[in-house]
Amino acid sequence: MLMTHAMMYRNRQYLLFLFIMACVLTNRSLWAAADNDYWQLPIPSQGDAPQTHHPVTHDISPKSCALCHKKQADEWRDSYHAKAASDGLIGQLHYFDQDSAESCLSCHTPRSEQIEDWQDQSLKFKATGIDCASCHLRQHQRYGAKSKTTSVHGTVQAKPLFKKADFCSPCHQFSEGRGLKLAGSFLENTHQEWQQSQWSAQNKTCQSCHMPKGSHRFKGIHDAEMTRSAFHIEAIRKAKGFSLLLKNQFAGHALPTYATPRIIVTLTSSDGKKVKTHIIQRQLFLDKQQSLQQKSDTRLQAGETITLFLPLKPQQQAVAKIRVEPDHFYKQVIYPYFLEDDEEARDEEDKQARQRLLKAKQVNRDYTLYDIQCPSWQQKDQHCTLTPQPLKGDSMTLLNDNSS
Ligand code: HEC
Ligand code: HEC
Ligand code: HEC
Ligand code: HEC
Ligand code: HEC
Repeated sequence: MLMTHAMMYRNRQYLLFLFIMACVLTNRSLWAAADNDYWQLPIPSQGDAPQTHHPVTHDISPKSCALCHKKQADEWRDSYHAKAASDGLIGQLHYFDQDSAESCLSCHTPRSEQIEDWQDQSLKFKATGIDCASCHLRQHQRYGAKSKTTSVHGTVQAKPLFKKADFCSPCHQFSEGRGLKLAGSFLENTHQEWQQSQWSAQNKTCQSCHMPKGSHRFKGIHDAEMTRSAFHIEAIRKAKGFSLLLKNQFAGHALPTYATPRIIVTLTSSDGKKVKTHIIQRQLFLDKQQSLQQKSDTRLQAGETITLFLPLKPQQQAVAKIRVEPDHFYKQVIYPYFLEDDEEARDEEDKQARQRLLKAKQVNRDYTLYDIQCPSWQQKDQHCTLTPQPLKGDSMTLLNDNSS
């Protein structure tokens, strides 16, 4: 079945590889992360639980961990890690051959047991995404930031890696031989961007901002408040017009770090005659050979500032809108690409895949970051009004981090 599809969609498959992938793994047991072999993807099978562990803990699904670790489980369930076996992912797998599909799964559902569920056609795919065991268990041994002795699942071993940015890079950073480079930088480059920022020098790790107080929500660009916390904004009515300064002050990497999200800034005079639009995105396109190229990169690197200016007459007022479309590239390019093809005869699996992709395309997670109102000129520079009011502080203080 998969073979037929692979042949039928050979072109598509190739194209998509260039797109997303960038991620395909040629060697399946690769990537020992920088300073240890904790991260082998996919994660080798855990094997049998030791008899010294309480029977309840033999089940390593998130549901089971939740029995005793409710706080982390409730937070994690809200996170995109829990949703990593998304319709957008699973819908695409149908069009790939088995090896390629498994390479996608090795980051999105990284445990071997999860991937075996996927291979077993008779089993319903248990879509638990990047779950507790993916990050905390190896051979049923629990690991964490601190060591602990428990009466239920033995000792928890401390690993310094849990406090380091390196913990996150196996999935959030491509490296030589693993992943596409465009215009000199990897398509997924979050760890390098972080390393080049002031944050690494201050020892503010991924966890400092994304796991404040040990939170397992892993908030990012899909969360309006988190994204607001990244920006420093100065919106000022000056004699000659409306000046809007945007600074990536508190994201520990490019804002946004991935090529998927798009942020659109529109400045408009109140009579509607003057409009200025600025897009913040790593914009990609397909060239004539259908290979992926970078059109432009207007993301704000860590610490970077841009200023937009809309010339106005003294009596003119103006408004601005900052919109965030976190899933832009997938929804505008990837999903339509699969869905456009309508003539093929279709079996049940094909229909299901299309259903999933259609769902992924229709989900709307766009939001307005700020609406800004600027007055007419009143003989001195004046701050414009931001709605909602920006919070004071950064992603760490806002979320009461105490993790460093
Ligand atoms: C039957 C209850 C139970 C289940 C189920 C359970 N745990 Fe635990 N776990 C505990 C107890 C009790 C401790 C010790 C807590 C303490 O001392 O604060 C603990 C400690 C931990 C710690 C260290 C916590 C710390 O504060 O340092 C980690 C990490 C952990 N468990 C992970 C897991 C994961 C992952 C799962 C699911 C695969 C799981 N546990 C399932 C009871 C359980
Ligand atoms: C096993 C692979 C893996 C590891 C390890 C991992 N992530 Fe992720 N992460 C992913 C995947 C895949 C997604 C995309 C999930 C989706 O939306 O389908 C993601 C998404 C995210 C998001 C995006 C949320 C949003 O709003 O879009 C954040 C933030 C994040 N991860 C932070 C971290 C941090 C911090 C760490 C380290 C503590 C980490 N991740 C470790 C695979 C991983
Ligand atoms: C090296 C790990 C890795 C591999 C391999 C990988 N991804 Fe991802 N994927 C990620 C991360 C990390 C994100 C989130 C990136 C971010 O927000 O910065 C992501 C995001 C996505 C998203 C958008 C969020 C969602 O789930 O709707 C889709 C769709 C996706 N990947 C599909 C795929 C497909 C299809 C493949 C295989 C062709 C693949 N990925 C291979 C790490 C990986
Ligand atoms: C993407 C990786 C990731 C996932 C998924 C994840 N954790 Fe964690 N967890 C961590 C990291 C990293 C820390 C240490 C955070 C810190 O101290 O800054 C941690 C800390 C903890 C702690 C506190 C003890 C400690 O070691 O600091 C517990 C308990 C825990 N996790 C349980 C869970 C449970 C239960 C789940 C699933 C519902 C889960 N985790 C999912 C990465 C993860
Ligand atoms: C100083 C705080 C800070 C640090 C350090 C930090 N982040 Fe972020 N991160 C943010 C904020 C704020 C956002 C939301 C705005 C945005 O998307 O850039 C974000 C967004 C994200 C996203 C959402 C996807 C996207 O395109 O932006 C991912 C994935 C992510 N971070 C991963 C990481 C990883 C991995 C690290 C460590 C290498 C890290 N972050 C370090 C603050 C931080």
